[in-house]
Amino acid sequence: MADILIIDDDPRLRQSFAKLLTSEGHTTRQAPSGEAGLELMHEKLPDMAVIDLRLPGMNGFETFKAMRDIEPRMPVVIMTAYGTTETAIEATKLGAYDYVLKPFDIPVFLKLVDNALQAGKFMRSRVDMSSEPDTTRGEVLLGRSQCMQELFKAVGRVAPTDATVLIRGESGTGKELVARAVYQHSLRSHKPFMVINCVAIPETLLESELFGYEKGAFTGATNRRIGKVEQANHGTVFLDEIGDMPLTIQAKILRLLQEKQVERLGGRDTIPVDVRILAATNRDLEAAVQDGRFREDLYYRLKVVSLHIPPLRERGEDIAHLSNFFLARHSRDVGIDNPGLTTEAKDILRAYHWPGNVRELANTLHKAVIFSRGGPIQAQDVSSIIGQPGKQQSGCVPDNEALEHWIQNTLNRNSGENALESITDHVAALTIKTALAATGGNRTRAAKLLGISRPTLVAKIDKYGLRIDAKIS
Ligand SMILES: Nc1ncnc2c1ncn2[C@@H]1O[C@H](COP(=O)(O)OP(=O)(O)OP(=O)(O)O)[C@@H](O)[C@H]1O
Ligand SMILES: [Mg+2]
Repeated sequence: MADILIIDDDPRLRQSFAKLLTSEGHTTRQAPSGEAGLELMHEKLPDMAVIDLRLPGMNGFETFKAMRDIEPRMPVVIMTAYGTTETAIEATKLGAYDYVLKPFDIPVFLKLVDNALQAGKFMRSRVDMSSEPDTTRGEVLLGRSQCMQELFKAVGRVAPTDATVLIRGESGTGKELVARAVYQHSLRSHKPFMVINCVAIPETLLESELFGYEKGAFTGATNRRIGKVEQANHGTVFLDEIGDMPLTIQAKILRLLQEKQVERLGGRDTIPVDVRILAATNRDLEAAVQDGRFREDLYYRLKVVSLHIPPLRERGEDIAHLSNFFLARHSRDVGIDNPGLTTEAKDILRAYHWPGNVRELANTLHKAVIFSRGGPIQAQDVSSIIGQPGKQQSGCVPDNEALEHWIQNTLNRNSGENALESITDHVAALTIKTALAATGGNRTRAAKLLGISRPTLVAKIDKYGLRIDAKIS
């Protein structure tokens, strides 16, 4: 739910806007003039503003500029009629989020409002990376593991420079949060932050989204459009999923990095821009360079300052910490007391390989909270969500290509009487090792996790000759 300021001198229009936005769950404040709108903005900063260009007294363009001088991170959408589009375009050049032509298409307008609110949130909601963050509200970037602590220090070091930063990590590791943290700790933190998701936008639109176009650049280009890079002048542009960026656009980004200039599509002029670029990807860029899908020169340029976020499975201590955090947050959101987790449930969380990383952990705990029946969340609740064979599960082997491949090879090599036994022993030994690692070597808990008795576990440890370096209990 957002607070949206509507500035229009026509009371009926204001009313219908207010009705429309309220039905979407937002609250609105209305002003009949720019002056009155600015006053409302002073009282309390809205999440965004929608301003009519033609206003009595101070016009919409002047109102936008005054607002931008107060808070350049508040998205402003300008409403305009056909005759005044040039002024609206001028406003986007100066950082207005976008403009709409009257009369407008309601779904298109609502989508625009959503996008503008999201952009505003990225700029203004703080990402708390401190060691004692306020976990009750806002966004937090948690991490007590050594590697995350190192990452936070690196963020602190690179943020205040103007260096291009490449953020790498598997899906769901927190790349977007890190990008926002870099922005917020930078010298440009009070200037715009534009996010462009290179996979979400079709290739044909990505270029115009980034660089804009001139009137007549292609069929349908009825007006000039200012690109996000130009709009973010003096601020920061975050190119999310840059590993998926088409080669033609990569060339333009390289040029932007080297020459600090952009060209609108179909335009003759080069426009100087001062933007800092942050980029993120979960792709193997080295392989993409090898395959000719990613420009080598851009790769080297981006790689100079890179931040790598390790996958969650490599930072076991963070799993526990993040689990507590998500559990508390989700139960508060759902309006129940924090149910907590049994030790066995914690062990399962710790042992799982989390291919979807922190996002998957958050979703898992969200579901676990929703389905909790009072009392702590049990191992089987967790395992049924993540699809891991838990105590009460059928324990079907995942359809794992690598595993099948390995079995096939083993069968080829040692076909004969003991093939099945040697394969199952190998898998059993690996399973026990994983369970012991997950419980820090605690045999009692590992046995529970595995659904066998402690003496059976001890016997198997002997049988397979497993050496456990962690503490023995
Ligand atoms: N260290 C962390 N502390 C708290 N929350 C985190 C952390 N890392 C990630 N999250 C949360 O996990 C979710 C995924 O994070 P984010 O979107 O930043 O990941 P991503 O790396 O950009 O993923 P993708 O590659 O899929 O785009 C978000 O809800 C984010 O708030
Ligand atoms: Mg992301």
